[in-house]
Amino acid sequence: MTRRKKQVVTEINDLRDELGEHNYRYHVLDAPVISDAGYDRMLRRLEALERDSPELVTPESPTQRVGGAPLERFETVNHSVAMLSLNNAFSIEELSEFDRRCREGTGRETLVYSAEPKLDGLAVSLVYEKGVLQRAATRGDGHHGEDVTLNARSIRSVPLRLLAPDCPEVLEVRGEVYMPLAGFKVLNQEQVKKGEKPYVNPRNAAAGSLRQLDPRICATRPLDFFCYGIGLWRGGELPQTQITTLATLRRFGLRTNPLVRQMLGIGQCLDYYHEILDCRQTLDYEIDGVVYKVNDLADQQSLGAVSRAPRWALAYKFPAPEETTIVHDIDVQVGRTGAITPVARLEPVFVGGVTVANATLHNQAEIERLDVRVGDTVTVRRAGDVIPEVVSVVREKRRRGARRFVFPSECPVCRSQVVVDDGGIIQRCVGGLYCSAQVKESIKHFASRRALDIEGLGAKLIEQLVDSGRVCHAGDLFTLSHDELAAMDRMGTKSADNLLEALELSRETTLARFLYGLGIPQVGEATAQALAQYFSSLEALVDASVEALEVVPDVGPVVASGIRLFFEQNHNREVIDALRASGVVWPVPEGSTSGPVGPFAGRTVVITGTLSGMSRDQARNWLVARGAKVTASVSARTDFVVAGADPGSKFDKALALGIRVLDEAQLRAMDKNNGN
Ligand code: IVH
Repeated sequence: MTRRKKQVVTEINDLRDELGEHNYRYHVLDAPVISDAGYDRMLRRLEALERDSPELVTPESPTQRVGGAPLERFETVNHSVAMLSLNNAFSIEELSEFDRRCREGTGRETLVYSAEPKLDGLAVSLVYEKGVLQRAATRGDGHHGEDVTLNARSIRSVPLRLLAPDCPEVLEVRGEVYMPLAGFKVLNQEQVKKGEKPYVNPRNAAAGSLRQLDPRICATRPLDFFCYGIGLWRGGELPQTQITTLATLRRFGLRTNPLVRQMLGIGQCLDYYHEILDCRQTLDYEIDGVVYKVNDLADQQSLGAVSRAPRWALAYKFPAPEETTIVHDIDVQVGRTGAITPVARLEPVFVGGVTVANATLHNQAEIERLDVRVGDTVTVRRAGDVIPEVVSVVREKRRRGARRFVFPSECPVCRSQVVVDDGGIIQRCVGGLYCSAQVKESIKHFASRRALDIEGLGAKLIEQLVDSGRVCHAGDLFTLSHDELAAMDRMGTKSADNLLEALELSRETTLARFLYGLGIPQVGEATAQALAQYFSSLEALVDASVEALEVVPDVGPVVASGIRLFFEQNHNREVIDALRASGVVWPVPEGSTSGPVGPFAGRTVVITGTLSGMSRDQARNWLVARGAKVTASVSARTDFVVAGADPGSKFDKALALGIRVLDEAQLRAMDKNNGN
């Protein structure tokens, strides 16, 4: 290296260190020591040096925040440690109950808690390897999220490189991406100016920004980040408490919320809640409550988690915003399981950041308790993403002639009898598959994102398909022809093509999604996962006794008998048989005892470049469904590489290592030829 070059390398390294330090002082410590203009000058100097010596550019250089070509879609990321959700509490009783359980579970008389604001943004995981940001992903369903690395890199408070030299080999940080209120206001003004729709609230704006396929758009959005915990920590010594974890992360250059406090016992926790509630209006970001976490990480370990939420943490939510409006009408909706829910049709009112025109009245008993009548002025409440509800009637404003609602004695859709169910609370239509409302709702559920995820099969189309008599249950979906679909309202050849393709793709699913999609009473996503994991085949589950079902984690006697009853119904078995006969399959999960089957069983495959017939994700699922293990990088263990147009460095590496490279046609031929 020439002397000149050495000087350049030194200057570049110094500039990067200094810029990193200033970024840290500005975003994390909130104590900048140079002006924005000074920072920009240094950044421009670094850019100029890197332009002259492009070989010295590294991905974690401060000049490399924004970049990359627009994506076609986000890749799916598996969270090796599940991203959990939080249990909610709305009252002091629920809070004390939580404290009691934690004390009992740990055998401690009083517990130390970490008390934190509950940010209203979206959860994101950041993976650092040797201190360099490798990947950012959304929470998704907790197990699989979306790879939003390029977008997250453009958030200034997300360090591209950690500061402390003693950070662990691998560190997965978890936190919240959010949009500060000031930035949100400006963004919405710009949206309106551009003739685009303003965002409903800062959380949606943050989510919408992070999910932009073009990283350049996300880079213009005012996003910020606070971290609140760790997922993975490999190498080095793990902190012992939540409070020291946050202090450590802060030392690494990550932004933590300055309002986090250590609290002893539930009394202090309650004080904290009121303190934060009082200062809420002065914050420049939205929060919807506070979070308490058992401080000691070993205690957290021993308390563990139930399905989707840890036992050691609790979100104590602020009261949901309320508004008053007028009830214009009351009618009922028939749900997937036949439950008949009364709904108030309202004079539209802006509450909790959105305009609400319908609010649930839950059931007959609730209508009686509220004594709500058509024409009444009522208070409605909207808590986060929960369906808005009527809370109370403003009696002083009741006008003469306000009309009582008479609950229908027969189903408004299929005229079947309505029975009272679930301890006298729920009115239910007994029509089952005879009731088109129930059929429509169950098909919508089956096609929904968390179930079979059939893209393009919307509510309106499902309604037409059922009303026309062509579709009676989910199994019929896979028998639809192109002409039948194209003939539906607002469909054409192109949409029919797309839907058929989507149906084709959704045929390959997971047992958990399939079970969830069936809509078995009380079986949500978490239970479906647990069942799929326990019974690795559907046949075993269908034949399982109530006793066998109760062995599954989280399945109690009520859920177990519900599952048993579901599989005993002939019509349910017929739907399942029809689905399987039409080719709905799920790959055998990794690590299952029966081992992978399929033409590519046991093969390790890498995909590179753009395939013409399927997206990268689809190709991945396609391969996994056929037994392959799909990995991200080429190594000596790779069996073959599938290459599309414009392959990347993986292609070169495959050639260098002498690994077989296939194109799409060869891959399909190999599939037909049973992997040979
Ligand atoms: S801890 C296992 N801490 O709330 C612990 N979450 O309702 C899981 N959130 O998905 C998260 N502020 O997006 C934690 N201080 C905080 C938080 C927080 C906001 C969000 C987060 C999570 C959701 C659960």
